[in-house]
Formats: sequence, C-alpha cells, structure tokens
Amino acid sequence: MEFQDVVRRRRMIRNYAETPVDRSVVDRAIRNATHAPSAGFSQGWGFLVLETPEDVRRWWAATTDPADLAAPDAWLTGMMRAPVVIVPCSSKAAYLRRYAEPDKGWTDEDEARWPMPFWHMDAAMASLLILQTAVDEGLGSCFFGIPPEREQGVRREFGIPDTFDPVGVITIGHRAQDAGTAGSPARRPRRPLDDVLHRGTWGGAEGAD
Ligand SMILES: Cc1cc2nc3c(=O)[nH]c(=O)nc-3n(C[C@H](O)[C@H](O)[C@H](O)COP(=O)(O)O)c2cc1C
Repeated sequence: MEFQDVVRRRRMIRNYAETPVDRSVVDRAIRNATHAPSAGFSQGWGFLVLETPEDVRRWWAATTDPADLAAPDAWLTGMMRAPVVIVPCSSKAAYLRRYAEPDKGWTDEDEARWPMPFWHMDAAMASLLILQTAVDEGLGSCFFGIPPEREQGVRREFGIPDTFDPVGVITIGHRAQDAGTAGSPARRPRRPLDDVLHRGTWGGAEGAD
C-alpha cells in the first residue's frame, strides 16, 4: 500500500470480526515498531503481546468491571472480539541509564534534564508504526488508554516490571462494520491546516490558541 494511503486510511477501529490474525502480521508490527526513532537510540520500550483467546480474555478481565463484562456495551463488545492485544510499555530507567553512558555523559541521571518524557514519546512513535502496519495489512487497530485504577492489576496479571510503564493498549483485528463506535471524528472535524501550521512565527493574538 502507498504510504499516503496508509496515513489516509488509518483510523481507530472499535469493532472487530473474530477471524484470527496471523502471527507473522504481529511479528511484522512489532519489528516495524522497533524502527521507531528513540532518543539516544535508547529503545526503552517493550511490547506485551496477547494473542490467544485465553490471554485476551485475561486482558479484559483485568481492565473491566465485572458488571460491564457481564453486560458489555457496543464499545466493549466490539473491542473484546479483537484477537490481538498489544501493550506498549516505556522505560524511563532505560533513558536515564543510556544518557549516563560515556558518549552522552549525563552521569548524574538528573531527571531535570528531561522536561519532555522522551520514553513515553518514543513508545508512542513505536505505537503509531504498529497502527500503520495494521492498515498496511488490511486490518484494523485501535490505541486506547488503560483505566488508571486498573494499572496495578494489569502489572500483577501480566508480570510487567516496575521499570516499565504501560503507555496504553492496542487492539488489532479484522474490521467489522462500525457499530455506533466511530469515535470523536464522527462528531468533530479535522482541524484545517491554517489552524495548525505556523510558518516562521506563531502569529498574533488570533493565533494564540
Ligand atoms: C493517546 C490516545 C488515547 C486514546 N484513548 C482512547 C480511548 O480510551 N478509547 C477510545 O475509544 N479511543 C481512544 N483513542 C482514539 C482517539 O479517539 C482517536 O485517535 C481520535 O478520535 C481520532 O480518530 P482516528 O484515530 O480514528 O483518526 C485514543 C487515541 C490516542 C492517541
């Protein structure tokens, strides 16, 4: 698929068919993710992949209220059918360590050097490559958040170490018809280029927001 088509076609899919996804597709998605840029080539990411029905069930059990599991809404029903769940994780420790190495030299590992959490940014860039790989494979995918009150349970259930933080979660699967779960783009327009593009200077007061 042409790159521009991958970009144009990508959107978050929240309703899947039960058809399995080939393991080679998952492998390709993760391999592509490792080609994401990372600060200092730290590559402080890790990807928990759940691709058996039992593991995927464990995911939803760990992140969902039992009452919601018993009577899932359209979002949950569509998402739970996705045969693959990937949890991209980022490691702040890996960046502090990497930048203390001789070619970087920030031996104090001072966190004040990191006004932007590059570890999360890099995991997000890797995540986009996973989403784009799904599009290129003719599949659907969705990046979404983990409810904060569920994070500890997720860590326990899947053995995610303290040195890694899950930045979100990605479902991948064969697309099914939208079931009223199209998401925000159905309710608000894409911002026009003039709104987001600031050539040379950000502009006056009218451009302040
Ligand atoms: C950081 C992040 C968190 C998101 N969290 C959720 C979520 O919790 N649930 C959900 O259904 N979609 C979630 N989305 C998907 C967005 O709603 C979606 O990307 C946005 O509406 C634009 O639509 P599109 O990606 O289909 O173009 C999230 C996306 C991002 C990038």
